[in-house]
Amino acid sequence: MKQLKYSLALSVVFMLFFTSCFNKDEKKYENAEDIPVNQEMIAELTSPPHVPTPVGKRKAKKLIVKMEILELEGELTDGVKYMYWTFGGSVPGSFIRTRVGDEVEFHLQNHPNNKLPHNIDLHAVNGPGGGAESSFVAPGHEKTFSFKTLNPGLYVYHCATAPVGMHIANGMYGLILVEPEGGLPPVDKEYYIMQGDFYTKGANGERGLQPFDMQKAVDEKADYVVFNGKVGSLTGDNAITAKVGETVRLYVGNGGPGLTSSFHVIGEIFDKVHIEGGDKINTNVQTTVIPPGGAAIVEFRVEVPGTFILVDHAIFRAFNKGALGMLKVEGEKDKKIYSGELRDDIYLPEGPGIQSMPSTGEIVASEIPAKSVEEQIKFGKNIFMQTCFACHQAEGQGVPHAFPPLAKSDYLNADVDRAIGIVLHGKTGEITVNGEKYNSVMTQQMLSTAEIANVLTYVYNSWGNSGKVVTKEMVEKVKNKK
Ligand code: CU
Repeated sequence: MKQLKYSLALSVVFMLFFTSCFNKDEKKYENAEDIPVNQEMIAELTSPPHVPTPVGKRKAKKLIVKMEILELEGELTDGVKYMYWTFGGSVPGSFIRTRVGDEVEFHLQNHPNNKLPHNIDLHAVNGPGGGAESSFVAPGHEKTFSFKTLNPGLYVYHCATAPVGMHIANGMYGLILVEPEGGLPPVDKEYYIMQGDFYTKGANGERGLQPFDMQKAVDEKADYVVFNGKVGSLTGDNAITAKVGETVRLYVGNGGPGLTSSFHVIGEIFDKVHIEGGDKINTNVQTTVIPPGGAAIVEFRVEVPGTFILVDHAIFRAFNKGALGMLKVEGEKDKKIYSGELRDDIYLPEGPGIQSMPSTGEIVASEIPAKSVEEQIKFGKNIFMQTCFACHQAEGQGVPHAFPPLAKSDYLNADVDRAIGIVLHGKTGEITVNGEKYNSVMTQQMLSTAEIANVLTYVYNSWGNSGKVVTKEMVEKVKNKK
């Protein structure tokens, strides 16, 4: 017993001794400029949507960043080519991850095949031009300068060579993260997303190599607003992923040059937002504003499986100009948090007050069974004008590069069960209609089986389609298959 007490006391003494040694080592510095730098390290750079390894508990170091500027042709969307100017070969440019007190030795390399001089302005720099003055570099040259990271936060970097707006519009922006001492708290998944607006001589979707349009850029009339440099960079197979129960941290920047982002994830609430990329944390946020040349860190836990859509909530940009991404979450459903559709009941208000479409003055009574195919078509047209028209357009012509046509649609006419299934359950991902690829999102429609039968019968009997008649029984059959 005595011995046990003695050894306990001894271990306490040892613990105190070690703790005091450790504390001496982890001396806190009042000023970040006083943090000593002993070792050298080559910075890990990543292309979006990936980020380098967290700094964790590592000490401040001399961090060597080698950033290569590449001017290269890429695809803005299917069939639309664009000459991008890039930091590291991607838009946005390579992600740089540092910690407070690091001494960053920055090497800016302008590839000999490039046509133009460039430079870099990092918002994480305390110094003239954020480094731009020291980094102006001609093709085939390399400029070096160094800076000490004094302020933790998430910062934009960009080219600042005249015409500045044009260099940014062509893709010359990215993010640099300065983690606080000890690093940001660990999370399960981290991703890098940056919004940008693009201005092309041709209209949205016009094929071929599209030159930059200075006048549209000055007027801030963007043809494309996208995440990570192109339409579809985060959709379909390119979607970012997580598992139910995981915490997700997004480093979100806005390169601009012109448009402010209203960043939102459909079906999620940001548990935390590091407002403007700084220290201040807001909680329980639906949409966060990210100005051009600004950034935010957003964090949330994913509770249920499904596809969560990332958008600029200035919503035409999302559905018509490209600012749309996807987070795919796999795992167990939790009906307590989200039930999914529980029932599909008929709702008919009492009395004579059946709603009518003001435009036609006709009575909409789709739940009164249609007595003939003609009536199905008539009822179906009303549903189409309320539910489908906004995307597929009045004559079923769709919207080029956004929403597929229903008129003379090979995809529609080939498979009626598939069409019923899409109206029932929605559809995301790439499909080919009449030789054109579409990669948009159609949400599940809140229609009864009779309404689905009617609207599809209307569509099949319009605009040169096959003339098929869809019955309520056919819809029920597809519905019960799932
Ligand atoms: Cu440049």
